Amino acid sequence: MLKEAKEYVRDTNRLFESGYLRKVAKGENTRVLSITSGKGGVGKTNIATNLACALVEIGKKVLVFDADLGLANIDIILGITPEYTIEHVIKGKKRLSDIIVKTEEGIHILPSSSGIEELTNLSLFQKKRLIEEFSLLNDTYDFIIIDTPAGISSNVIYFNLAANEIINIVEPDPTSFTDAYALMKVLSIKYGIKEFNIVLNCVDSEGQARSLFQKLSMICERFLEVKLNYLGYVFKDKKLVDAVRKQRPVILLYPYSKSSRCIYNLRDRLCSIEPAKGAGFKRFLNRLFGKGGRIPNEEI
Ligand SMILES: Nc1ncnc2c1ncn2[C@@H]1O[C@H](COP(=O)(O)OP(=O)(O)OP(=O)(O)O)[C@@H](O)[C@H]1O
Ligand SMILES: [Mg+2]
Repeated sequence: MLKEAKEYVRDTNRLFESGYLRKVAKGENTRVLSITSGKGGVGKTNIATNLACALVEIGKKVLVFDADLGLANIDIILGITPEYTIEHVIKGKKRLSDIIVKTEEGIHILPSSSGIEELTNLSLFQKKRLIEEFSLLNDTYDFIIIDTPAGISSNVIYFNLAANEIINIVEPDPTSFTDAYALMKVLSIKYGIKEFNIVLNCVDSEGQARSLFQKLSMICERFLEVKLNYLGYVFKDKKLVDAVRKQRPVILLYPYSKSSRCIYNLRDRLCSIEPAKGAGFKRFLNRLFGKGGRIPNEEI
């Protein structure tokens, strides 16, 4: 190795070891939630967006980390077209503050769907720059909501490990159920996550949601030794489909629809529970970029 390259590696290693991360990130109160699922198309983006709007309505500051690789990501639901993504920050072309979109609904969006691969594979130099950029957001947000892709790829795992509260969205159909189990199996067995929050989406009744939750909870406790928390449910609702078509969050377009009432219940439940241990911005940055990161480097 060239002398210069050796020095570079030594210096960047020192940067981490000297507690650099500790110095730049102090926020202890930010709750970082991932909205995730084993199966695609189960309502993650809609729940993330509407939950964010509902939190903004009660005065919370919310950043949505849009890591969705699907077609209908948060931009579509809000009818926005971000010009830049985190890829521009990674490449040093833009500052983080330049790429965050502040929507008329009052949510801040961090567009990341392009740049995900780079994010999971950064050089130390890029990590340092991103930590510096992110540290400027210190204490800005009450909630960071990560809209993850579906499945058990390394990207999904990466974002779920960065969160300190995982919200797994499950639909009543059997494949959603088994894929939700598969995701929790990987996260619990390979990465030691022992607690998950569950939201049942597209249900016809509260009874259906409860009984599906109990079934899933029993299986997970027995075979994975994990604890599931029942966060709530969202009714199957034509108004939500209509809102997606009109590119507006359903809670703003149809605040009294049955799905909107469920979203408000989810928000209230979320705000009433104690944040999981280890919340905070510092931990989030550490998980994303620092030594605390348990970034998988291969597909599972
Ligand atoms: N509660 C609901 N009632 C009726 N339809 C719903 C509901 N939730 C979601 N949908 C339908 O499912 C579609 C997909 O939802 P969404 O894009 O939020 O899923 P996703 O999990 O983010 O998908 P992906 O895995 O592709 O990112 C919506 O466009 C809507 O048509
Ligand atoms: Mg989505």
